[in-house]
Amino acid sequence: MLKYAHFFIFITVLLTASAQTGPILPTPAVYQRVNGQFVCSGNLVVDPSEINPALLQSFKDLAKWSHQMEVTPSVQNPMVSFKKLTNVKQDSYSINISERIVISYSSDASCFYALTSLFQLATKQDGQVSFQQCFVKDYPKFQWRGLHLDVSRHFFTPEEIKRFIDLMAYYKFNTLHWHLTDDQGWRIEIKKYPLLTEIGAFRDSTVNEHYTTYPRTYNKVRYGGFYTQEQVKEIVAYAASKYIQVVPEIEMPGHARAALAAYPQYSCTGEHLGVEGLWGVFDDIFCSKEESILFLQDVLSEVIPLFPSAYIHVGGDEAPKTRWKACPNCQAVIKANGLHDEHELQSYFIQRMDAFLTANGKKLIGWDEILEGGLSPNATVMSWRGYEGGIAAASQGHDVVMCPGSHCYFDHYQGKGSDEPLAIGGFTSLEKVLSFDPIPANMTVAQAAYVLGAQGNLWTEYIADYQKLEYMAYPRAIALSTALWSETKPSYNDFLAVLVKYHFPFLEKKNVNFSQTCLKPEIFTKRKANGGIEIYKTPAKGIIASEELISSIPAAKRKIKAHEIVIDQGKSIPAKQINVVAHKALGAQINFQTPPNPKFDNGSLTIVDGQLGARPWKGNEWLGFNTDSVSFDIILEKPIKVKEIRIHSLHDPNSWIWSIQGYEIQLIKFGHGVNISEDYNMDETFILKIKDKKVKQIHVVLYGLPKIPEGQPGAGNTPWLFIDEIEIR
Ligand code: ACM
Ligand code: ZN
Repeated sequence: MLKYAHFFIFITVLLTASAQTGPILPTPAVYQRVNGQFVCSGNLVVDPSEINPALLQSFKDLAKWSHQMEVTPSVQNPMVSFKKLTNVKQDSYSINISERIVISYSSDASCFYALTSLFQLATKQDGQVSFQQCFVKDYPKFQWRGLHLDVSRHFFTPEEIKRFIDLMAYYKFNTLHWHLTDDQGWRIEIKKYPLLTEIGAFRDSTVNEHYTTYPRTYNKVRYGGFYTQEQVKEIVAYAASKYIQVVPEIEMPGHARAALAAYPQYSCTGEHLGVEGLWGVFDDIFCSKEESILFLQDVLSEVIPLFPSAYIHVGGDEAPKTRWKACPNCQAVIKANGLHDEHELQSYFIQRMDAFLTANGKKLIGWDEILEGGLSPNATVMSWRGYEGGIAAASQGHDVVMCPGSHCYFDHYQGKGSDEPLAIGGFTSLEKVLSFDPIPANMTVAQAAYVLGAQGNLWTEYIADYQKLEYMAYPRAIALSTALWSETKPSYNDFLAVLVKYHFPFLEKKNVNFSQTCLKPEIFTKRKANGGIEIYKTPAKGIIASEELISSIPAAKRKIKAHEIVIDQGKSIPAKQINVVAHKALGAQINFQTPPNPKFDNGSLTIVDGQLGARPWKGNEWLGFNTDSVSFDIILEKPIKVKEIRIHSLHDPNSWIWSIQGYEIQLIKFGHGVNISEDYNMDETFILKIKDKKVKQIHVVLYGLPKIPEGQPGAGNTPWLFIDEIEIR
């Protein structure tokens, strides 16, 4: 009975929400529904007199692609006509559907946007196409609406890139940031340096599973590919026909191992190293000597004419300074230019590229590390390590593209379930993406004026094929587009309703392998009265919140028990298993003296819920601290004999997460404490054996590493300390 009641509410919510906002995503500024449909056969007669031939071609292509419709140009009794407007908001358009369809537009791009909206209003049945009668008025909120695609870690064919562009265009993205070079493969033909692709485009081996899995194994399969300059031109032209600019990224000075495998003379050591098969950050980067700078400028000379975009991305992220510190050539550059350190040397390096690009009519854009050592005069900053880099750049009067890892990294997990396919780590749900605002609350109005927009980043270490790329990108890309386009962003419930009702069927029709994670029941845990936990599930989160109790597990008194709980996720979705270790502190009260960082504060129950944080980590399963020590008390229900304490932490240096380095533990019974403390250069889990002490309260102090060591990602910063279960046995 309960099941059917949920189903009924689900449908009702869907219908109400979609009637208000209409089927178009990203949500238009104005949508006014009129009763009635404009119905036609599969052929639209279009008056072409107010659109150019390219737009007429777009009309034909979109009609075919979206609904298998034909378009016939004719001034005789047209069903669709156009009006070009001046003096209106940039890229704005309107659509009026009554007995005929009238589209007003201000720019070619806006006409294209109108067409994507028009076909989202259409439904096809028995050869007849119906358009909902309505009035739409629309314009974009942000000018940079991008997706980034890493083709180095895994390669995607030109056909796949075009397919990716088709979907981007349908959802009104206008920028493809094409990450063409990295440690694991160089993917663009450079005629002056043929070895970049002969050698640099192929690796002999790739690490298996997650890079944090030990012992590491490699598949020993040669892997690679690249785009010829002809293919690049074709892809860029294809994107341009859909009003998408392609911004190429040529990474420097870091992430250079593929290039240096081909031309080791441009590194600091000259050592012959292969194209890398492991994921991470590597010490061997481009040397800052003149020969290396001229080599990269030669490369850029061939890249520039291929890309009409105003921007060329030069990377700049994650460049360890280890080699530069030991390199006589780099040290000579520091001295000759009166620089203070290697950060200023990186700034010098980027400034050389900035001057070169500017002289060639292009604008330099780079990851937020280009702020370190001083920002180059014409640089635009892409802020990925949070919003801070973007705020700093804007306050110095530089343009900014926001893509903080918290909301814009689509290589993170999108669901909490163990049934999600392997991802790099992190947790960025559909709801979180929709909630994204490229202008954070602590930005001034003056700073906000420099924010061009934002983009979603698809790093492909764990995205080995196109199917998985679609799974990671969709539907999150639609939520991002909505966050960037829509002046009045819908609530998550309204967004989800439109997405599920109109866009999931469309994506299915287009054979897009989108994720349906947002429809899965949400599993959550609560504290049980008198110790222990209760596990609940809800049907599709965001639509209804009524919950169902699945399991109730008391804290252990003497024997520790492991429970396997199987959860039905609904029709056609496999059941899920949750493993719970019922230890003595299960569901215990935790009093923090050091609160978790709000970014990774999932509630104190996280560390006593009997469920171990998965690896690769998802943000929801851990408590994250960015202080060098953490202290808290575990309050047990009543005094109980304790034999063992196990503390689980996470070690993932690439994510700046380092395991616990030391601890102090105080066992308290009726106010008397016993102290145990140690420096512990430990594994992720450490086990402390205790001689059967009766304990009511445990005071825990955990020490992290004070600073990330040189040569490691994030060197010099305070690392994150991620802790999960504190098991009391
Ligand atoms: C980045 O994710 N390394 C820009
Ligand atoms: Zn050097």
